Amino acid sequence: MMPGSSGPTAYERLQERLVEQPRTWLISGVAGFIGSNLLETLLKLEQRVVGLDNFTTGHWRNLHEVQASVHPRQWHNFSLLEGDIRNADDCRQACEGVEHVLHQAALGSVPRSLADPLASHAVNVTGFLNMLDAARLAQVRSFVYAASSSTYGDHPQLPKVEDVIGKPLSPYAVTKYVNELYAEVFYRCYGFNTVGLRYFNVFGKRQDPNGAYAAVIPKWTTALVRGEPVYINGDGETSRDFCYVVNAVQTNLLAATTEDAAAKNQVYNVAVGARTTLNALFALLCKNLGAHGIFPCARPVYRDFRAGDVRHSLADIGKARTLLGYAPTHTVARGLPEAVQWYLACE
Ligand SMILES: NC(=O)c1ccc[n+]([C@@H]2O[C@H](COP(=O)([O-])OP(=O)(O)OC[C@H]3O[C@@H](n4cnc5c(N)ncnc54)[C@H](O)[C@@H]3O)[C@@H](O)[C@H]2O)c1
Repeated sequence: MMPGSSGPTAYERLQERLVEQPRTWLISGVAGFIGSNLLETLLKLEQRVVGLDNFTTGHWRNLHEVQASVHPRQWHNFSLLEGDIRNADDCRQACEGVEHVLHQAALGSVPRSLADPLASHAVNVTGFLNMLDAARLAQVRSFVYAASSSTYGDHPQLPKVEDVIGKPLSPYAVTKYVNELYAEVFYRCYGFNTVGLRYFNVFGKRQDPNGAYAAVIPKWTTALVRGEPVYINGDGETSRDFCYVVNAVQTNLLAATTEDAAAKNQVYNVAVGARTTLNALFALLCKNLGAHGIFPCARPVYRDFRAGDVRHSLADIGKARTLLGYAPTHTVARGLPEAVQWYLACE
């Protein structure tokens, strides 16, 4: 129960129900950042989980870490299919006997999609359609997929509300918007239920700090710990609604299990509803590292704005609160110490 609250939250009630009556889940992208956090939560709730991944950006070490964090009995409830969502047969095999699909597999990152739009399209659009159709044919109970805040594109309105979007600013944003269009059409044409979750800059343990396409929090944390320079694209006043991964996990489970017809065939913002500038994030990170006796003396290096990036991002999370019972438990200030601790343990 949340401190000071009068009763259990929708998520707390759901967790009790799941433990009492375990279900079978498929997580695509299970070896990735969000996928492996979903896996850990579901196994700890005694669920049966099938994972699908081709390890393009995911890692075996993420799965090994989950294995170490759960009881051997719970790990026994997990089976992995090494496969590719671009292959329709792999998707069909993965969906066999599954009740709930949490589709996370994709090639993330705006810059990656600018460098290789065909690769992003193949995985994020063709792969998505393969998964959607396989899930429909398998008659799963629910299909929840990772959408993206990039779908808001060039629309200036803040906070972002689900119904008001602009033009996409990158190939990646196009792929994620096409997912929403396909999902909607599958409901209209086949009556197939889906829920899209527009994640806003999710962060937390197991988010990859390495490579050209790493996200800002893991990249900066690792750079500061290693004494390497931290680059800020633009003047540092660019802002984001950073969302700790446990909040994203919560929305996935609520969305997958909702019985409310009004809550299905919708897209939802997944965030906290608060905006942090890159300059403020840098200061907060330095403070958190200071708590561990690490005092990076380097100042950030400012450089050009990055192509395809939106200037400000802030979510209205009212729709997820109302229809799904979403109640974020972690602000950036609460999630960052946990994330930093994990990165320090990895160094
Ligand atoms: N992390 C964020 O802030 C964020 C924001 C918006 C949307 N998303 C979306 O959330 C989802 C998960 O993102 P993440 O941050 O965990 O990324 P991630 O790269 O850590 O995980 C993606 C996983 O998908 C797997 N994968 C990629 N191509 C595949 C293929 N062809 N077949 C099978 N598996 C494949 C990768 O190996 C990896 O394990 C993605 O759909 C991403 O677009 C993430």
